[in-house]
Amino acid sequence: MQAWRASLLWFDPHADGPQAHFEHDGLLVTAPDAAGVQRVLAVGAFAAVRAAHPTVPVRDHRGWLLAPGFIDLHVHYPQTDIIGAPAEGLLPWLQRYTFPQEARLADADHAHAVARFFLDEMARHGVTTALTWATSHPASVEALLSQAQARGLRWIAGKVLQDRHSPDGVRDDTETSLRDTEVLLQRWHGRGRLGYAITPRFAPSCSDAQLRGAGELAARYPDVWIQSHVAEQVDEVRWVRELYPHDRSYLAVYERFGLLRPRAVYGHGIYLEDDDWALLRHSGAAIAVAPTSNLFLGSGFFDYAAARAAGIVLGLASDVGGGMSFSPLVTMRMAYTVGRAAVRGDGKAKQGVSLEPLDLWWQHTAGAARALGLAGTVGSLAPGSEADFVLLDPAATPLLARRCAQAQSLAEWLFALIMLGDDRAVRAVHVAGAAQQHNLT
Ligand code: GUN
Ligand code: ZN
Repeated sequence: MQAWRASLLWFDPHADGPQAHFEHDGLLVTAPDAAGVQRVLAVGAFAAVRAAHPTVPVRDHRGWLLAPGFIDLHVHYPQTDIIGAPAEGLLPWLQRYTFPQEARLADADHAHAVARFFLDEMARHGVTTALTWATSHPASVEALLSQAQARGLRWIAGKVLQDRHSPDGVRDDTETSLRDTEVLLQRWHGRGRLGYAITPRFAPSCSDAQLRGAGELAARYPDVWIQSHVAEQVDEVRWVRELYPHDRSYLAVYERFGLLRPRAVYGHGIYLEDDDWALLRHSGAAIAVAPTSNLFLGSGFFDYAAARAAGIVLGLASDVGGGMSFSPLVTMRMAYTVGRAAVRGDGKAKQGVSLEPLDLWWQHTAGAARALGLAGTVGSLAPGSEADFVLLDPAATPLLARRCAQAQSLAEWLFALIMLGDDRAVRAVHVAGAAQQHNLT
């Protein structure tokens, strides 16, 4: 048994919105389960939890915030090395930077080196679970998931499917790609804390046969994840309309191939058709909102008001390397900014929303866990949760310390952390499946 004393923030794991708990002087107690994974045994006010667990040794971090590890709903680990590469839009960016860089991961040694750096960087920023894109090379999945396993992480990844409109070096073969996918998912899905995601890159890069095969695998393995991209940029949507003239919308293509269901997470969703919101809601598929990517690549502004009105499942994502930061705090900050923007992705006027700090935090923790079908497993400190958590220092920089000291309420204090914080605020990361704590200080 272990215990941490700090300010605590967490959310009800199963609520469909931010039902927050906060203890200024709190205590978290964890204990290993039969598989050796640390789980939350007790959480709450220090005095009460301490009275129930009087002998457990306590690490004292008063002044810091202990919160669930962040969950990134969409990130491309091979694109770590092209973060911040400018282009005139998504399609030129893919051709000029992304595909040549991803081709390098055919080399297993290189893939391992990138995976190691990527996982270190995620930890430095307080991310303890991610739905991750590898490349079309099976070795790129092996590299990432074997290292995630060694670190005891709850991590999900998949081999990219792209059998057309893709250059030599990343284009795969339809039959082989589907066989490789099934071999990889049988090998990795459910192994320790790991999971597999069927990963069609996007409708333009997959033949009908490849999408059909992906949908068949998704039906045969219903607890495996699905990830893809949808309605990210205007040129991309126009291309999909040309390629699939008989489908009602871009999203409807994925529906036709059986790729919309719970545990399916689609990046972006900026240019969805009106009827797509209901389709998302009824299918249980989720949107990964990726504001730093949507701003960096000039994609547009996610319509939070429409998404909330439709009651769809969503959460936050970095989308590195289209995204320009690994930091969940930066992503939350940009999500707030995008919510305020009074234009839709298509340039039409819309109502700006002011996302509350607890809502933003929820979208990167319990809300994201819910989008993954992992509510109650990660993304919370509720008893029974796997004990993946971060310790954040609200005095990590002079400005952050000064601003946080002025805060009159929890919301104001969290808002200051979101607006001014970054990796310097992440003082420690605890991973439930690891033998040791990763202390970053
Ligand atoms: N659409 C297809 N592939 C990609 C990718 O790698 N990044 C982004 N942002 N969009 C995509
Ligand atoms: Zn992406």
